[in-house]
Amino acid sequence: MKTFYDYYRNQVKLSFEDHPFSTAPKHVWVICRYKEQWLLTKHKDRGLEFPGGKVEQGESADEAAVREVKEETGAEVERLHYIGQYYVAGKGGTIIKNVYFAEISHLEEQPHYYETEGPVLLNQLPDSIKNNTLYSFMMKDEVLTECLKIIKFKHLNSY
Ligand code: GTP
Repeated sequence: MKTFYDYYRNQVKLSFEDHPFSTAPKHVWVICRYKEQWLLTKHKDRGLEFPGGKVEQGESADEAAVREVKEETGAEVERLHYIGQYYVAGKGGTIIKNVYFAEISHLEEQPHYYETEGPVLLNQLPDSIKNNTLYSFMMKDEVLTECLKIIKFKHLNSY
């Protein structure tokens, strides 16, 4: 388990165990890969980030991950890999989020992309996301860097 502070100085606990904080987390975040590129979305307020959101009633976290990717990018998840879970002790309460790695089979243009401006494909993630105002705060703590290490270590991706 790793403990650190996020962009807003909220405490974050990140673990790569099997659902250590909750078996039914209410949030999901999905690191997506499509044809040798990273697939992100552009949130209207937060900026560039991997897709994700809230688990709806009657839905599993895995189902929410597939749905959120589709809604925010138009992408079809071919394979979904659970990576880990994190816990954020926010000012207004705590949230627990599953992180996934998704392999995307294809992209389909959508009539709308909910609270985002749709898909953004990148060959590489920039080295210094922390100082980059184009990127969402969610991309600016150790959750992303640690999850990318696991994805690489498990050979889930060939980047
Ligand atoms: P809405 O109901 O959609 O308006 O939700 P919200 O803006 O209150 O956000 P949400 O319930 O998703 O999250 C509450 C707070 O938790 C946010 O304001 C953030 O501070 C924090 N938070 C949510 N997701 C993340 C995340 O992925 N990483 C980090 N570090 N903090 C997060």
